[in-house]
Amino acid sequence: MNQFTSVNDVQDIGQLVKDALALKENPYAHQHLGKNKTLGLVFLNPSLRTRLSAQKAALNLGMNVMVMNMDKEGWALETQDGVVMNGTTVEHIREAAAVMGQYCDVLGLRSFPKLLNRDEDYNEDFFNKFIKYCKVPVVSLESATRHPLQSLADLVTIKETWKAGGKPKVVLAWAPHIKALPQAVPNSFAEWMCKAQEEGMLDFTIAQPKGYELSEDFTPGANITYNLDEALAGADYIYVKNWSSYKEYGKVLTYPEGWMLNNDKLKETNDAKVMHCLPVRRDLELSSEILDGPNSLVIHEAGNRLWAAQAVLKQMLEKL
Ligand code: CP
Repeated sequence: MNQFTSVNDVQDIGQLVKDALALKENPYAHQHLGKNKTLGLVFLNPSLRTRLSAQKAALNLGMNVMVMNMDKEGWALETQDGVVMNGTTVEHIREAAAVMGQYCDVLGLRSFPKLLNRDEDYNEDFFNKFIKYCKVPVVSLESATRHPLQSLADLVTIKETWKAGGKPKVVLAWAPHIKALPQAVPNSFAEWMCKAQEEGMLDFTIAQPKGYELSEDFTPGANITYNLDEALAGADYIYVKNWSSYKEYGKVLTYPEGWMLNNDKLKETNDAKVMHCLPVRRDLELSSEILDGPNSLVIHEAGNRLWAAQAVLKQMLEKL
């Protein structure tokens, strides 16, 4: 694997899930792969899980790790070509990415969307330029439109916990929030679940209020509804997540009552397990009674971020 920015970079998602679960059983079996290799983690936005799980994954593989908090400690970056840099930007991404590529064998990058201009965000201009100029393999730590390490951990969690036989019904359920959040996590989750559905692993449904439809590029084959109760009926896994509007780009629209999941709504499901990528705003996006109850998988899911990151880094190291 030369880069990991979406499900399309993965040859066999079933095998990658198996690799992650094997690493969970035997975390230190491949320490030779990372000897004298350095992972650089570049953050333009905050992170808890992605930062720590990627560091721990690299250490388990014997790698060295360097973290650059570009937003707080780096020079202000220019991304446009042909501009006279007489404003606030200090260093061009052409030099900054190239220099980081000199110090690292693999680079991870987190860069959120601005949510102002849909074309600009969905072109992934910053990410693509970083990949082009750093000239080493790049792992997405969340881009403007996708969060593939999270989605891999989510699929690992579903495959690991589903014991009933047959295909589980997996539901991505929109939830309320007061801020405009990116579509990266739901886009990516949808993309990975659609691929898993195509491969016969599960059945996938998305429930959202009108106006919150995701880009169809990420939802091929998904069953899509505006009715949460219809989606919850018989659900085995509910992936709760807020996102801002794609159509009215970056906006928080009005929505009907009843979109926050609670124990009453859980009764409509097949005793569904509840997932969320975290961080989560309690009793706004998801009820405390669910987070603290027996159906919550959120901590288990966050734990699996480590094995997802380690499986991806392992495949990259094997190609170096
Ligand atoms: N889920 C997730 O990516 O968490 P962080 O933003 O804390 O890394």
